Amino acid sequence: MLEALKPRIISIIDQEASVESRLQDICKLLKADIPYYDWVGFYFRNGEREELKLGPYAGAPTDHTIIPFGKGICGQVAVSGKNFVVPDVRAQDNYIACSITVKAEIVVPLFVNGENIGQIDIDSNTPDPFTGADELFLEFVNQKVAEIL
Ligand code: SME
Repeated sequence: MLEALKPRIISIIDQEASVESRLQDICKLLKADIPYYDWVGFYFRNGEREELKLGPYAGAPTDHTIIPFGKGICGQVAVSGKNFVVPDVRAQDNYIACSITVKAEIVVPLFVNGENIGQIDIDSNTPDPFTGADELFLEFVNQKVAEIL
């Protein structure tokens, strides 16, 4: 399933639309086609500030449009530059809840020229759904996105 989405990611990246609209299309595609992806969004570093700002996303609107570095799963990935897979969000003490239905989360950093400039964030309403295949797939998505930033 994830492998089959790669050509569709590439075709979105190759469109002659704005970056914003292509990122939006990627979020919509992932949410629609992967049953356990219930919220899909990009966060990017907010200029020179030590905080993340929400970019394009698909799913329920969130209050967490700004996340300070170090706060929540997203803020920790902004600092570590490492994938963060959370099988059970209730087991995390540094976690920002967006919705009570969310059971699990994965955040994969996005690098441009080796610099951690943002991330893709997925929330799942299914407990413990993410595997190494999701990490590899989301790394692929972020590498493709980095080409147009
Ligand atoms: N749960 C995230 C906050 C972002 S929402 O999932 C959209 C976190 O702990 O950083």
